Amino acid sequence: MIKSPRGTRDLLPPDTALWNFVEATVRDVFRAYNFHEIRTPIFESTELFARGVGEETDIVSKEMFTWEDRGRAESDKGQSLTLRPENTAGIVRAYIEHKLWERGLNKFFSIGPMFRRERPQKGRYRQFYQIDAEVIGPASAGSQSPARDAEILELLATLLDRVGITGWTLELNSVGCPADRTKFNEALRNALAPVVDKMCADCQRRAVTNPFRVFDCKVPEDQPIIATLPTIAHFLDDACRAHYKEVKQILNAVEIPYTENPRLVRGLDYYTRTAFEFTHGGLGAQNAILGGGRYDGLSEALGGPPAPGIGFAIGEDRLVLSLPASAESVVRQPDVYIAPLGPGMNREAARLARELRRHDLVVELGDESFRLKKSFEAADKIGSRYILIVGENEVAANAFALKHLASGEQVTIPRAELAQKLLSK
Ligand code: HAM
Repeated sequence: MIKSPRGTRDLLPPDTALWNFVEATVRDVFRAYNFHEIRTPIFESTELFARGVGEETDIVSKEMFTWEDRGRAESDKGQSLTLRPENTAGIVRAYIEHKLWERGLNKFFSIGPMFRRERPQKGRYRQFYQIDAEVIGPASAGSQSPARDAEILELLATLLDRVGITGWTLELNSVGCPADRTKFNEALRNALAPVVDKMCADCQRRAVTNPFRVFDCKVPEDQPIIATLPTIAHFLDDACRAHYKEVKQILNAVEIPYTENPRLVRGLDYYTRTAFEFTHGGLGAQNAILGGGRYDGLSEALGGPPAPGIGFAIGEDRLVLSLPASAESVVRQPDVYIAPLGPGMNREAARLARELRRHDLVVELGDESFRLKKSFEAADKIGSRYILIVGENEVAANAFALKHLASGEQVTIPRAELAQKLLSK
């Protein structure tokens, strides 16, 4: 038997109804905040992620699905391509490529699959889905303002509320600007020098190339050392400090609770200033339901104009896992199973099905070759609310036997009243 590749999953009914509920709800929320949908390719040139996300990150150095194009055209030959591990870099690329600022477009969302070669476990897959949103634009449009950061966080609180998720924690930090990072990296190098030989091979390498990334280390033995390292808070310049303070003050004003976590650095290199994650207790080890932050230099790093931005990506798989049990009410069962009884009855049944479906009823159609017992079994198996019997007598009388399957209550209903009866719960 051929199975789906390791770390990938088939999303099956009825769960897909939950996914559709989540996507429809977030689309509504995005509309209220004037975000517009963007769809970018699921593969991009490898260079985009190397430059955007950062060579030293776990994502780029270990987790990407990368291949060399085999196309014969000169322009394709040997080009290195990668299945997107995240979508901020792709959206910023599209922003630059299409000069979207000229059209006044600056708020985007996107929903789709991402790919990372991680060790699969609950809430961690090799193909997973993100709901991504980005606000990006020229500084003259206010894109650098702390008001944007706070608005994004308030949007997220609203969005989680709308899908019914409670009990989340917003962890907040500021990772400063590149100048702060240079000073901080220097301090980290000094702090790491006497202890780094006791750390894992990755940390030994990071201590030289990009000490900041030591905070991504998951090796348990390294954690006591990491806990003693300085935090970025002491290295923020006045402007970054003021930005961070204003974000927190707006959050207080709109009553969004947060917890400051000075060790939250996020696993991607493009972040500046505000960085955040929302965690949820129900998820186990992979407890980050979403993450994001500001990336004021990313556009320039990708060859574009200055365009400060901030955004987030929700792990949709994890969001669905965190939904309360009550969300299952979105799964819609069939309203009625139509059971044609005897030769020639398929035609009548088809006509009835067509009439009832016009009323937005969910109708499952049986077959005239089925006996009554088999029709009842079929109706039961799909969880239909009612079964409607279509036999010669019923057609002649233009009135049909309708049985409520849970209670066993049966009535005879004139054709003209059928839809109304089925619509009344
Ligand atoms: P990220 O923290 O790498 O950020 O991913 C965001 C979210 O995607 C995570 O919090 C998690 O819920 C989900 N996720 C990540 N990896 C997996 C996986 N292997 N399986 C299941 N879910 C996963 C980013 O990707 C940034 N692009 C977010 C962003 C947008 N920052 C600014 N704008």
